[in-house]
Amino acid sequence: MKMLVTGAAGFIGSNFVFYMQEEHPDYDIVVLDALTYCGNLETLKPALKKKNFRFVKGDIADRDVVFPLFREEKFDVVVNFAAESHVDRSIEDPGIFLKTNILGTQVLMDAAREYQVSRFHQVGTDEVYGDLPLDRPDLFFTEDMPITASSPYSASKASADLLALAYHRTYGLPVTISRCSNNYGPYQFPEKLIPLMIARALDDKDLPVYGTGENVRDWLYVKDHCRAIDRILQDGEVGQVYNIGGHNERTNLQVVKTILHQLGKPESLITFVGDRKGHDLRYAIDPTKIHDQLGWLPTTAFDDGIRQTIDWYLENKAWWERIISGEYQQYYKEMYGNR
Ligand code: NAD
Ligand code: DAU
Repeated sequence: MKMLVTGAAGFIGSNFVFYMQEEHPDYDIVVLDALTYCGNLETLKPALKKKNFRFVKGDIADRDVVFPLFREEKFDVVVNFAAESHVDRSIEDPGIFLKTNILGTQVLMDAAREYQVSRFHQVGTDEVYGDLPLDRPDLFFTEDMPITASSPYSASKASADLLALAYHRTYGLPVTISRCSNNYGPYQFPEKLIPLMIARALDDKDLPVYGTGENVRDWLYVKDHCRAIDRILQDGEVGQVYNIGGHNERTNLQVVKTILHQLGKPESLITFVGDRKGHDLRYAIDPTKIHDQLGWLPTTAFDDGIRQTIDWYLENKAWWERIISGEYQQYYKEMYGNR
Protein backbone atom coordinates (compact mmCIF):
# COMPACT_ATOMS: atom_id res chain seq x y z
CA MET A 1 0.00 0.00 0.00
CA LYS A 2 1.47 3.33 -1.01
CA MET A 3 -0.22 6.41 0.42
CA LEU A 4 0.20 10.10 -0.30
CA VAL A 5 -0.63 12.28 2.70
CA THR A 6 -0.68 16.00 1.90
CA GLY A 7 -0.32 18.71 4.53
CA ALA A 8 1.19 16.33 7.10
CA ALA A 9 3.67 18.85 8.48
CA GLY A 10 0.62 20.46 10.07
CA PHE A 11 -1.49 19.49 13.07
CA ILE A 12 -3.88 16.72 12.04
CA GLY A 13 -1.81 15.39 9.14
CA SER A 14 1.22 14.77 11.36
CA ASN A 15 -0.92 13.00 13.95
CA PHE A 16 -2.41 10.94 11.10
CA VAL A 17 1.05 9.88 9.86
CA PHE A 18 2.06 8.80 13.38
CA TYR A 19 -1.21 6.92 13.76
CA MET A 20 -0.82 5.14 10.41
CA GLN A 21 2.82 4.23 11.05
CA GLU A 22 1.73 2.64 14.29
CA GLU A 23 -1.35 0.86 12.92
CA HIS A 24 -0.02 -0.05 9.47
CA PRO A 25 3.79 -0.21 9.73
CA ASP A 26 3.97 -1.89 6.30
CA TYR A 27 2.45 1.08 4.43
CA ASP A 28 4.73 3.30 2.36
CA ILE A 29 3.87 6.89 3.20
CA VAL A 30 4.86 9.93 1.16
CA VAL A 31 4.12 13.39 2.55
CA LEU A 32 3.70 16.39 0.25
CA ASP A 33 3.69 19.67 2.15
CA ALA A 34 4.55 23.23 1.12
CA LEU A 35 5.79 24.08 4.65
CA THR A 36 3.76 27.27 4.81
CA TYR A 37 3.81 29.31 8.05
CA CYS A 38 2.01 26.47 9.89
CA GLY A 39 3.88 23.53 8.41
CA ASN A 40 6.70 22.39 10.68
CA LEU A 41 9.03 19.68 9.43
CA GLU A 42 10.43 19.27 12.92
CA THR A 43 7.10 17.72 13.91
CA LEU A 44 7.73 14.87 11.46
CA LYS A 45 11.18 14.08 12.86
CA PRO A 46 10.13 10.65 14.25
CA ALA A 47 8.47 9.74 10.93
CA LEU A 48 11.53 10.79 8.92
CA LYS A 49 13.53 8.06 10.65
CA LYS A 50 11.39 5.30 9.13
CA LYS A 51 12.57 3.57 5.95
CA ASN A 52 9.19 3.51 4.22
CA PHE A 53 8.58 7.26 4.65
CA ARG A 54 9.44 10.10 2.30
CA PHE A 55 8.95 13.85 2.67
CA VAL A 56 8.54 16.08 -0.39
CA LYS A 57 8.36 19.85 -0.10
CA GLY A 58 5.89 21.22 -2.61
CA ASP A 59 2.61 22.97 -3.31
CA ILE A 60 -0.46 20.84 -4.04
CA ALA A 61 -1.57 23.52 -6.52
CA ASP A 62 1.63 23.14 -8.56
CA ARG A 63 1.04 20.68 -11.41
CA ASP A 64 4.77 20.54 -12.14
CA VAL A 65 5.33 19.09 -8.68
CA VAL A 66 2.20 16.98 -8.32
CA PHE A 67 2.06 15.14 -11.66
CA PRO A 68 5.71 13.93 -11.68
CA LEU A 69 5.30 12.81 -8.06
CA PHE A 70 2.21 10.72 -8.92
CA ARG A 71 3.97 9.32 -12.00
CA GLU A 72 7.01 8.33 -9.96
CA GLU A 73 5.30 6.96 -6.85
CA LYS A 74 2.16 5.30 -8.27
CA PHE A 75 0.02 5.95 -5.19
CA ASP A 76 -2.79 3.62 -4.23
CA VAL A 77 -4.44 6.12 -1.88
CA VAL A 78 -4.37 9.91 -1.42
CA VAL A 79 -5.47 11.65 1.79
CA ASN A 80 -5.68 15.41 1.32
CA PHE A 81 -5.13 17.38 4.54
CA ALA A 82 -3.23 20.25 2.91
CA ALA A 83 -5.11 23.50 3.36
CA GLU A 84 -5.11 26.98 4.66
CA SER A 85 -7.06 26.22 7.82
CA HIS A 86 -7.43 29.32 9.99
CA VAL A 87 -10.76 31.18 9.76
CA ASP A 88 -9.36 34.50 11.05
CA ARG A 89 -6.66 34.52 8.35
CA SER A 90 -9.28 33.83 5.66
CA ILE A 91 -11.19 36.91 6.76
CA GLU A 92 -8.06 39.04 6.37
CA ASP A 93 -6.86 37.56 3.07
CA PRO A 94 -9.11 35.05 1.25
CA GLY A 95 -7.06 34.62 -1.97
CA ILE A 96 -4.61 31.96 -0.81
CA PHE A 97 -7.52 29.96 0.68
CA LEU A 98 -9.15 29.72 -2.74
CA LYS A 99 -5.86 28.79 -4.41
CA THR A 100 -4.79 26.05 -2.00
CA ASN A 101 -8.11 24.69 -0.82
CA ILE A 102 -9.96 24.67 -4.15
CA LEU A 103 -7.40 24.72 -6.97
CA GLY A 104 -4.94 22.59 -4.98
CA THR A 105 -7.62 19.94 -4.49
CA GLN A 106 -8.42 20.08 -8.20
CA VAL A 107 -4.77 19.51 -9.18
CA LEU A 108 -4.50 16.53 -6.82
CA MET A 109 -7.73 15.03 -8.18
CA ASP A 110 -6.60 15.53 -11.78
CA ALA A 111 -3.40 13.64 -10.97
CA ALA A 112 -5.39 11.00 -9.07
CA ARG A 113 -7.52 10.46 -12.20
CA GLU A 114 -4.56 10.37 -14.56
CA TYR A 115 -2.63 7.86 -12.41
CA GLN A 116 -5.73 5.91 -11.34
CA VAL A 117 -5.52 5.93 -7.56
CA SER A 118 -7.94 3.54 -5.89
CA ARG A 119 -9.08 6.10 -3.30
CA PHE A 120 -8.99 9.88 -2.98
CA HIS A 121 -9.96 11.00 0.52
CA GLN A 122 -10.79 14.66 1.01
CA VAL A 123 -10.46 15.89 4.60
CA GLY A 124 -13.36 18.30 5.02
CA THR A 125 -14.85 20.27 7.87
CA ASP A 126 -18.19 20.65 9.64
CA GLU A 127 -17.96 24.39 8.93
CA VAL A 128 -19.47 23.72 5.48
CA TYR A 129 -22.87 23.34 7.18
CA GLY A 130 -22.82 26.94 8.42
CA ASP A 131 -23.89 27.18 12.05
CA LEU A 132 -26.72 26.16 14.39
CA PRO A 133 -28.66 28.47 16.72
CA LEU A 134 -27.62 28.53 20.39
CA ASP A 135 -31.20 28.02 21.60
CA ARG A 136 -31.85 24.76 19.67
CA PRO A 137 -29.69 22.11 21.37
CA ASP A 138 -31.83 19.47 19.63
CA LEU A 139 -30.33 20.33 16.19
CA PHE A 140 -27.19 18.66 14.80
CA PHE A 141 -25.28 18.65 11.49
CA THR A 142 -26.17 15.65 9.33
CA GLU A 143 -24.55 14.71 6.01
CA ASP A 144 -27.64 15.60 3.98
CA MET A 145 -27.91 19.17 5.27
CA PRO A 146 -27.43 21.94 2.70
CA ILE A 147 -23.98 23.54 2.38
CA THR A 148 -24.02 27.13 3.65
CA ALA A 149 -20.56 28.38 4.50
CA SER A 150 -19.97 31.55 6.56
CA SER A 151 -16.29 32.44 6.11
CA PRO A 152 -13.99 32.48 3.07
CA TYR A 153 -12.27 29.46 4.69
CA SER A 154 -15.45 27.42 4.95
CA ALA A 155 -16.59 28.53 1.47
CA SER A 156 -13.29 27.27 0.05
CA LYS A 157 -13.62 23.94 1.87
CA ALA A 158 -17.24 23.63 0.69
CA SER A 159 -16.10 24.26 -2.89
CA ALA A 160 -13.48 21.52 -2.58
CA ASP A 161 -16.11 19.07 -1.29
CA LEU A 162 -18.47 19.89 -4.16
CA LEU A 163 -15.65 19.51 -6.66
CA ALA A 164 -14.69 16.15 -5.17
CA LEU A 165 -18.30 14.89 -5.43
CA ALA A 166 -18.46 16.20 -9.01
CA TYR A 167 -15.24 14.34 -9.90
CA HIS A 168 -16.79 11.21 -8.49
CA ARG A 169 -20.01 11.55 -10.48
CA THR A 170 -18.52 12.84 -13.72
CA TYR A 171 -15.24 10.91 -13.94
CA GLY A 172 -15.87 8.08 -11.51
CA LEU A 173 -12.99 9.16 -9.26
CA PRO A 174 -13.22 6.96 -6.13
CA VAL A 175 -13.72 9.81 -3.67
CA THR A 176 -14.68 9.77 0.01
CA ILE A 177 -15.14 12.89 2.14
CA SER A 178 -15.05 13.33 5.90
CA ARG A 179 -16.36 16.39 7.73
CA CYS A 180 -14.99 16.66 11.23
CA SER A 181 -15.67 19.02 14.11
CA ASN A 182 -12.98 21.00 16.00
CA ASN A 183 -9.86 18.95 16.78
CA TYR A 184 -7.51 19.39 19.70
CA GLY A 185 -4.34 17.60 20.78
CA PRO A 186 -0.54 17.64 20.29
CA TYR A 187 1.14 19.69 17.53
CA GLN A 188 -1.69 22.18 16.95
CA PHE A 189 -0.35 25.51 15.76
CA PRO A 190 -0.63 28.07 18.56
CA GLU A 191 -2.95 30.41 16.68
CA LYS A 192 -5.99 28.17 17.30
CA LEU A 193 -8.07 28.57 20.45
CA ILE A 194 -6.75 25.80 22.73
CA PRO A 195 -2.96 26.02 22.14
CA LEU A 196 -3.13 29.82 21.98
CA MET A 197 -4.82 29.99 25.37
CA ILE A 198 -2.43 27.44 26.93
CA ALA A 199 0.65 29.31 25.68
CA ARG A 200 -0.65 32.71 26.77
CA ALA A 201 -1.87 31.51 30.17
CA LEU A 202 1.54 29.99 30.90
CA ASP A 203 3.05 33.43 30.26
CA ASP A 204 0.35 35.14 32.39
CA LYS A 205 -0.80 37.09 29.33
CA ASP A 206 -4.42 38.13 28.74
CA LEU A 207 -6.62 35.55 26.99
CA PRO A 208 -8.58 37.12 24.12
CA VAL A 209 -12.11 35.67 24.02
CA TYR A 210 -14.13 36.82 21.00
CA GLY A 211 -17.55 38.41 21.64
CA THR A 212 -19.40 36.93 24.60
CA GLY A 213 -17.51 33.63 24.66
CA GLU A 214 -20.85 31.80 24.37
CA ASN A 215 -20.15 30.38 20.88
CA VAL A 216 -20.13 26.59 20.97
CA ARG A 217 -17.66 24.20 19.35
CA ASP A 218 -17.81 20.39 19.30
CA TRP A 219 -14.32 19.20 20.35
CA LEU A 220 -12.76 15.90 19.24
CA TYR A 221 -9.38 14.52 20.27
CA VAL A 222 -7.20 14.41 17.15
CA LYS A 223 -6.39 10.69 17.41
CA ASP A 224 -10.10 9.86 17.23
CA HIS A 225 -10.28 11.85 13.98
CA CYS A 226 -7.28 9.92 12.59
CA ARG A 227 -8.89 6.60 13.48
CA ALA A 228 -12.13 7.65 11.79
CA ILE A 229 -10.31 8.47 8.55
CA ASP A 230 -8.56 5.10 8.69
CA ARG A 231 -11.98 3.40 9.07
CA ILE A 232 -13.29 5.32 6.04
CA LEU A 233 -10.23 4.31 3.99
CA GLN A 234 -10.75 0.66 4.95
CA ASP A 235 -14.51 0.26 4.63
CA GLY A 236 -16.05 3.57 3.53
CA GLU A 237 -18.18 3.68 0.40
CA VAL A 238 -16.96 5.81 -2.49
CA GLY A 239 -19.08 8.85 -3.28
CA GLN A 240 -20.09 9.13 0.39
CA VAL A 241 -19.65 11.88 2.98
CA TYR A 242 -19.04 10.93 6.64
CA ASN A 243 -19.45 13.34 9.55
CA ILE A 244 -16.98 12.86 12.41
CA GLY A 245 -17.65 14.16 15.91
CA GLY A 246 -18.20 12.94 19.43
CA HIS A 247 -20.97 15.03 21.04
CA ASN A 248 -18.49 17.15 23.01
CA GLU A 249 -20.01 20.60 22.92
CA ARG A 250 -18.44 23.36 25.01
CA THR A 251 -18.73 27.14 24.96
CA ASN A 252 -15.44 28.90 24.29
CA LEU A 253 -15.60 30.35 27.77
CA GLN A 254 -15.94 26.86 29.29
CA VAL A 255 -12.88 25.68 27.36
CA VAL A 256 -10.80 28.68 28.40
CA LYS A 257 -11.85 28.32 32.06
CA THR A 258 -10.97 24.60 32.00
CA ILE A 259 -7.48 25.46 30.74
CA LEU A 260 -7.01 28.16 33.40
CA HIS A 261 -8.25 25.85 36.12
CA GLN A 262 -5.88 23.02 35.12
CA LEU A 263 -2.92 25.39 34.90
CA GLY A 264 -3.78 26.99 38.25
CA LYS A 265 -4.11 30.43 36.65
CA PRO A 266 -6.73 33.07 37.56
CA GLU A 267 -9.87 33.73 35.48
CA SER A 268 -8.94 37.41 35.59
CA LEU A 269 -6.65 36.68 32.61
CA ILE A 270 -9.79 36.40 30.43
CA THR A 271 -10.27 39.49 28.28
CA PHE A 272 -13.31 39.92 26.05
CA VAL A 273 -12.32 41.34 22.66
CA GLY A 274 -14.24 42.32 19.51
CA ASP A 275 -16.10 39.46 17.84
CA ARG A 276 -14.91 37.56 14.75
CA LYS A 277 -16.73 38.82 11.61
CA GLY A 278 -19.53 36.40 10.66
CA HIS A 279 -18.73 34.32 13.77
CA ASP A 280 -20.51 30.94 13.63
CA LEU A 281 -22.60 30.38 16.76
CA ARG A 282 -22.66 26.64 17.28
CA TYR A 283 -21.22 23.53 15.64
CA ALA A 284 -22.56 20.11 16.62
CA ILE A 285 -22.03 16.92 14.64
CA ASP A 286 -24.44 14.01 14.35
CA PRO A 287 -22.02 11.05 13.91
CA THR A 288 -24.75 8.39 13.50
CA LYS A 289 -23.73 7.44 9.96
CA ILE A 290 -20.07 6.66 10.67
CA HIS A 291 -21.07 4.90 13.86
CA ASP A 292 -23.74 2.74 12.26
CA GLN A 293 -21.94 2.00 8.97
CA LEU A 294 -18.30 1.81 10.06
CA GLY A 295 -18.54 1.13 13.79
CA TRP A 296 -16.54 4.23 14.70
CA LEU A 297 -16.91 5.83 18.11
CA PRO A 298 -14.59 8.31 19.82
CA THR A 299 -12.52 6.84 22.64
CA THR A 300 -11.10 9.93 24.38
CA ALA A 301 -13.40 11.87 26.70
CA PHE A 302 -12.89 15.65 26.70
CA ASP A 303 -11.71 15.80 30.32
CA ASP A 304 -8.98 13.23 29.60
CA GLY A 305 -8.07 14.67 26.21
CA ILE A 306 -7.72 18.23 27.42
CA ARG A 307 -5.58 17.09 30.37
CA GLN A 308 -3.32 15.11 28.01
CA THR A 309 -3.14 18.07 25.64
CA ILE A 310 -2.21 20.54 28.36
CA ASP A 311 0.44 18.10 29.63
CA TRP A 312 1.80 17.76 26.10
CA TYR A 313 2.15 21.55 25.72
CA LEU A 314 3.83 21.70 29.13
CA GLU A 315 6.26 18.91 28.21
CA ASN A 316 6.96 20.23 24.72
CA LYS A 317 7.48 23.91 25.39
CA ALA A 318 10.45 23.98 23.01
CA TRP A 319 8.16 22.95 20.11
CA TRP A 320 5.74 25.86 20.46
CA GLU A 321 8.25 28.41 21.76
CA ARG A 322 10.29 27.86 18.58
CA ILE A 323 7.10 28.50 16.58
CA ILE A 324 6.25 31.65 18.46
CA SER A 325 9.80 32.94 17.98
CA GLY A 326 9.77 31.97 14.27
CA GLU A 327 12.88 29.81 14.78
CA TYR A 328 11.16 26.63 13.61
CA GLN A 329 11.24 27.83 10.04
CA GLN A 330 15.01 27.29 10.05
CA TYR A 331 14.57 23.55 10.45
CA TYR A 332 13.97 22.79 6.77
CA LYS A 333 17.07 24.75 5.84
CA GLU A 334 19.10 22.85 8.46
CA MET A 335 17.76 19.50 7.25
CA TYR A 336 17.78 20.10 3.52
CA GLY A 337 19.87 23.24 2.96
CA ASN A 338 22.98 21.35 1.80
CA ARG A 339 21.30 18.52 -0.08
P1 NAD B 1 -2.77 23.09 9.72
O1 NAD B 1 -2.98 24.50 9.33
O2 NAD B 1 -2.20 22.75 11.04
O3 NAD B 1 -1.85 22.37 8.62
C1 NAD B 1 -2.01 22.56 7.24
C2 NAD B 1 -0.80 21.95 6.53
O4 NAD B 1 -0.99 22.12 5.11
C3 NAD B 1 0.54 22.63 6.88
O5 NAD B 1 1.53 21.66 7.10
C4 NAD B 1 0.85 23.46 5.62
O6 NAD B 1 2.24 23.64 5.40
C5 NAD B 1 0.21 22.61 4.54
N1 NAD B 1 -0.12 23.38 3.33
C6 NAD B 1 -0.78 24.56 3.28
N2 NAD B 1 -0.89 24.97 2.01
C7 NAD B 1 -0.30 24.00 1.24
C8 NAD B 1 -0.11 23.82 -0.15
N3 NAD B 1 -0.54 24.73 -1.03
N4 NAD B 1 0.51 22.71 -0.59
C9 NAD B 1 0.96 21.77 0.29
N5 NAD B 1 0.83 21.90 1.62
C10 NAD B 1 0.19 22.99 2.09
O7 NAD B 1 -4.19 22.42 9.50
P2 NAD B 1 -4.94 21.28 10.34
O8 NAD B 1 -5.65 21.92 11.47
O9 NAD B 1 -4.04 20.16 10.56
O10 NAD B 1 -6.06 20.86 9.27
C11 NAD B 1 -5.78 19.85 8.30
C12 NAD B 1 -7.01 19.64 7.44
O11 NAD B 1 -8.10 19.24 8.27
C13 NAD B 1 -7.47 20.89 6.70
O12 NAD B 1 -7.90 20.48 5.43
C14 NAD B 1 -8.63 21.40 7.53
O13 NAD B 1 -9.54 22.08 6.72
C15 NAD B 1 -9.21 20.11 8.05
N6 NAD B 1 -9.92 20.18 9.34
C16 NAD B 1 -9.33 20.76 10.43
C17 NAD B 1 -9.99 20.76 11.66
C18 NAD B 1 -9.36 21.36 12.89
O14 NAD B 1 -10.02 21.46 13.92
N7 NAD B 1 -8.11 21.76 12.87
C19 NAD B 1 -11.27 20.18 11.76
C20 NAD B 1 -11.85 19.61 10.62
C21 NAD B 1 -11.16 19.61 9.43
O1 DAU C 1 -14.97 23.00 13.03
C1 DAU C 1 -13.80 22.64 12.37
C2 DAU C 1 -12.89 23.84 12.22
O2 DAU C 1 -12.36 24.14 13.51
C3 DAU C 1 -11.76 23.59 11.22
O3 DAU C 1 -12.31 23.42 9.95
C4 DAU C 1 -10.78 24.78 11.22
O4 DAU C 1 -9.68 24.48 10.37
C5 DAU C 1 -10.28 25.00 12.63
O5 DAU C 1 -9.41 26.12 12.66
C6 DAU C 1 -11.45 25.22 13.58
O6 DAU C 1 -12.12 26.46 13.30
P1 DAU C 1 -12.62 27.44 14.47
O7 DAU C 1 -12.78 28.79 13.90
O8 DAU C 1 -13.78 26.85 15.19
O9 DAU C 1 -11.32 27.36 15.44
P2 DAU C 1 -10.51 28.47 16.26
O10 DAU C 1 -9.57 27.72 17.15
O11 DAU C 1 -9.97 29.52 15.38
O12 DAU C 1 -11.64 29.10 17.18
C7 DAU C 1 -12.44 28.32 18.04
C8 DAU C 1 -13.45 29.24 18.71
O13 DAU C 1 -12.74 30.12 19.61
C9 DAU C 1 -14.18 30.15 17.74
O14 DAU C 1 -15.52 30.33 18.19
C10 DAU C 1 -13.44 31.48 17.83
C11 DAU C 1 -12.95 31.49 19.26
N1 DAU C 1 -11.66 32.17 19.49
C12 DAU C 1 -10.59 31.82 18.73
C13 DAU C 1 -9.36 32.42 18.92
C14 DAU C 1 -8.17 32.05 18.07
C15 DAU C 1 -11.54 33.11 20.50
O15 DAU C 1 -12.51 33.43 21.21
N2 DAU C 1 -10.33 33.73 20.69
C16 DAU C 1 -9.23 33.42 19.94
O16 DAU C 1 -8.15 34.03 20.16
